[in-house]
Amino acid sequence: MSPEQKQTRYVQVGIGHRSLIYANAMGGPHRASSVLAAMCDKNRGRLELRQKYMKEKYGYPDIALYDGDDFEKMIQEQKPDVVIVTAGPDVTHEALIIRAMELGCDVITEKPMTIEADRCQRIVDAAKRTGKSVRVTFNYRYSPPRSQVKELLDSGAIGKVLSVDFEWALDTSHGADYFRRWHRRKENSGGLMVHKATHHFDLMNWWLSEKPATVEAIGRRGFYGADTGVAESLGLQGRAERCLDCSCKGSCPFYLDLSKSTELRTYYLENEQYDGYFRDRCVFSADMDIEDNMNVIVRYQSGTLMSYCLNAFLPWEGYRIAFNGTKGRLEHGTVESTYIAGDGRVQGGTIKDATYIRLLPAFSTPQDLAVRVGEGGHGGGDDVMLADIFDPAAPADPLKRAAGIGDGSYSILVGVAANLSMKSGRAVEIADLVTNIPVPSWEA
Ligand SMILES: NC(=O)c1ccc[n+]([C@@H]2O[C@H](COP(=O)([O-])OP(=O)(O)OC[C@H]3O[C@@H](n4cnc5c(N)ncnc54)[C@H](O)[C@@H]3O)[C@@H](O)[C@H]2O)c1
Repeated sequence: MSPEQKQTRYVQVGIGHRSLIYANAMGGPHRASSVLAAMCDKNRGRLELRQKYMKEKYGYPDIALYDGDDFEKMIQEQKPDVVIVTAGPDVTHEALIIRAMELGCDVITEKPMTIEADRCQRIVDAAKRTGKSVRVTFNYRYSPPRSQVKELLDSGAIGKVLSVDFEWALDTSHGADYFRRWHRRKENSGGLMVHKATHHFDLMNWWLSEKPATVEAIGRRGFYGADTGVAESLGLQGRAERCLDCSCKGSCPFYLDLSKSTELRTYYLENEQYDGYFRDRCVFSADMDIEDNMNVIVRYQSGTLMSYCLNAFLPWEGYRIAFNGTKGRLEHGTVESTYIAGDGRVQGGTIKDATYIRLLPAFSTPQDLAVRVGEGGHGGGDDVMLADIFDPAAPADPLKRAAGIGDGSYSILVGVAANLSMKSGRAVEIADLVTNIPVPSWEA
């Protein structure tokens, strides 16, 4: 950064697990271009812990701390250029994004942008009214193999894509985690159709450079919860509300010991007294209403059809996709085994060369392509994305991976429509849900 370039002034709201990558970016490689002026959270313990961490690790001066009720005060006093929203539950994003824009700030928000159509409409309208921008951090776009797939599709390697088969698998470690926390209630997360699949639907929209038009879905919860019979089949009688107090500790394959992971212990277990946020609720409790098995059919505006399915109780985690085009087929998939759910176990181990990209040209010989690899979080996507966000000298991106309100809207609206379709049994038109959606990144 040249001396005359101004540092961007940031504040961050929501200081849980996910917020750390942004703090590390501003404390470490992107220190010269950024200032983290203040942090806001409902949980005082997590705020103080992060303040101490930034000081000890990066020599960062005391970052100003604000309680959850003082979000506006933080913006008024600290006058940031940009507010970074990393709060959870996801339902909190809408109010924080809108207020930040009304107070004159641009916004960077974690996915999902929000969880329902009316909330999405209010964000779209507020951006128009205020002239401020919202960037949605779709880190999945930045992982090298997924960018490679985008380049292949854009190059016309399989001609025009007519249909797509897309399967995403979540395992009994990472997948189960959504049934332990706030995610397990739709009013908080929109269910996995929104909370998780916003990543998948965004990838597909961006890969195809297409806007979704019509959605039909069915879904159910057949594994987690008190009413599926799975806990009984595992012999788990007399379960408690959370793992900490549970008599099934010794026999439950889902037992999570928060005290065994430094992050889960220090950020969550040791700060429960501030907010009663238990990070280890029973995956077989009655208090959940999200699905763990969903099937969705999407028709895109150009006519391309996609079938998508998500299961959250599988022995492996990852995905398999087949794009079927007028000049051939492109197959891509991976097995992801790196997520550690708290106590150090890594489910599935590491499968060598688990990521593949296979090009099957029509009337010709199939080719297994060399796959680009990346290091770090989310298949190498996190670090590339952070550089794109925080480095003012980042080159223009031909893949247009920086996502805005248009991208954030179209990705969640597939999941929102799927939720509505699951209820009504009917197809849902995206155009009936939200109006005046700005153009997504690939059309900008
Ligand atoms: N892009 C990704 O791959 C990825 C990965 C994980 C999480 N996420 C997203 O990041 C967000 C945070 O996830 P997490 O796992 O860190 O959640 P978390 O529950 O562990 O932490 C969220 C934090 O937000 C705070 N908070 C809640 N409401 C608030 C409010 N109104 N004002 C201030 N603070 C508030 C909570 O006290 C908590 O400290 C979620 O929206 C989630 O969907 C994205």
